[in-house]
Amino acid sequence: MVDDLFKRRAIYFNAFDIYGGSSGLYEYGPIGVRIRENIKKVWRHYFIDYLDSLEIDGSDIAPRIVFEASEHIELFNDPIVICSSCKTPYRADKLLEEYFERNNKKLEADSIKKLNDKEIERLIIENDIRCERCNGKLGNVERFNLMFKTNLGYNGEAYLRPETAQNIFVDFIYLKKSIGFDLPRAIGQIGRAYRNEISPRQELVRMRSFTQMELELFFDPESDQSKFRDKDLSFIYSYQIPFKRVGETEPKIYSLKELLDYKSIPNIYFAFMLYLIDRFLKDIGISNNYRFREVEKEELAHYSGGTVDLEIKTSYGYIECEGTAYRRDFDLKRHSEFSKEDLSVSDGKGRKFIPHVIEPSFGLDRLLFALLENSLVDDGRGWKYLKLNDKIAPYKYVVFPLQKDDRLIEKAKQLYEALFNKDIAVAYSQTGSIGKRYAKFDEIGVPYAITIDYQTLEDNTVTIRDRDTTKQRRVSIEELISKP
Ligand code: GLY
Repeated sequence: MVDDLFKRRAIYFNAFDIYGGSSGLYEYGPIGVRIRENIKKVWRHYFIDYLDSLEIDGSDIAPRIVFEASEHIELFNDPIVICSSCKTPYRADKLLEEYFERNNKKLEADSIKKLNDKEIERLIIENDIRCERCNGKLGNVERFNLMFKTNLGYNGEAYLRPETAQNIFVDFIYLKKSIGFDLPRAIGQIGRAYRNEISPRQELVRMRSFTQMELELFFDPESDQSKFRDKDLSFIYSYQIPFKRVGETEPKIYSLKELLDYKSIPNIYFAFMLYLIDRFLKDIGISNNYRFREVEKEELAHYSGGTVDLEIKTSYGYIECEGTAYRRDFDLKRHSEFSKEDLSVSDGKGRKFIPHVIEPSFGLDRLLFALLENSLVDDGRGWKYLKLNDKIAPYKYVVFPLQKDDRLIEKAKQLYEALFNKDIAVAYSQTGSIGKRYAKFDEIGVPYAITIDYQTLEDNTVTIRDRDTTKQRRVSIEELISKP
């Protein structure tokens, strides 16, 4: 069960609620926006700044040819089954999976990803799975393309991008020529992507309009990978992560070197991405309840030569929040063919080649949802709260005057201004009892509450209450402002 705090505090909520909502569409309120921006900031630290990557912000809409080249027109689809009576559509594989889960058939549920459409159809008939709404018979399993189709101008067939990655592939040679960089080099992007999910459920886990944080790391597959630009990568070999290899039922702790030796991951740059993902994850506050999973061949996206998913535990079970795919030269080759542009590069010694690509791709909304659920604490204080760290919390401090007394209010506003002017994320509140204010700001994860009381007027000290311990300490305003 998803906790009601997230919607009650408008961190996120159903879009177009006054019209009954619209499946798979959500809005973020002020606290949700702040937390999301903070996650983006940490992502940029690891995937843009640390790697010296190039960041772009591309168009959400693209003409048809882009997705012909990427093969999304032909292959980006899900199996659909429609009720023959009331015409309710279902995603066929999910319907079957949920049926097996309800009947405690975990092995069958886990193996659905490997079934083809005919096998799914046979199992739906054999198990007499019916329409959940009217108990009508279900039709044949067919394919439904997940892209939103639109027009550019009067009749220019176009689509909303189903992944931000295509902008990066299409822009690669333009950026390479104009900026003039060497490989390996990564290009990243944070932006909206759109998928017309057949029957979206599970809150932020399956949305029709969502945000991705994607990186495409371009490299020469024949080059020495022991270094990434000026970084010697030998330090990552002994780094350990929880990992579920194909054929294993539970994840185990593996070093990246072991995963390379077992060929569960294709190369060192791929290992380097897993290392960064793990560091990033811990930095935003997820240090357990997650695992990496080697994706089976039958499940791979059409462009992938090997994928590892990052899965985080939520009330919906383990959900995929990121996927690292070895896209090889698939996309650049296809765009070369379709655009007739030469997208190859030179190794500086006369050899020309199409760069290979490794792509770590995060779904920001899912990540936020998993983080919210994993941060929610109920320690018996009478209200639940989000144990978010200082980097992710919507505000680091909130300033309270103890009472509605003009002298306290003036002092509290001065302190608020002083912290604000130091670029600290700070909130202010003077409404309600102090206890209620603690509860209100604990709930949204603010780590520290500063109270201005009558002693402040005498000696310029304040109390700082720690959200997690609820303990208070007294410090001078001078000290607080000098090291906020
Ligand atoms: N770019 C990978 C994905 O959107 O799934």
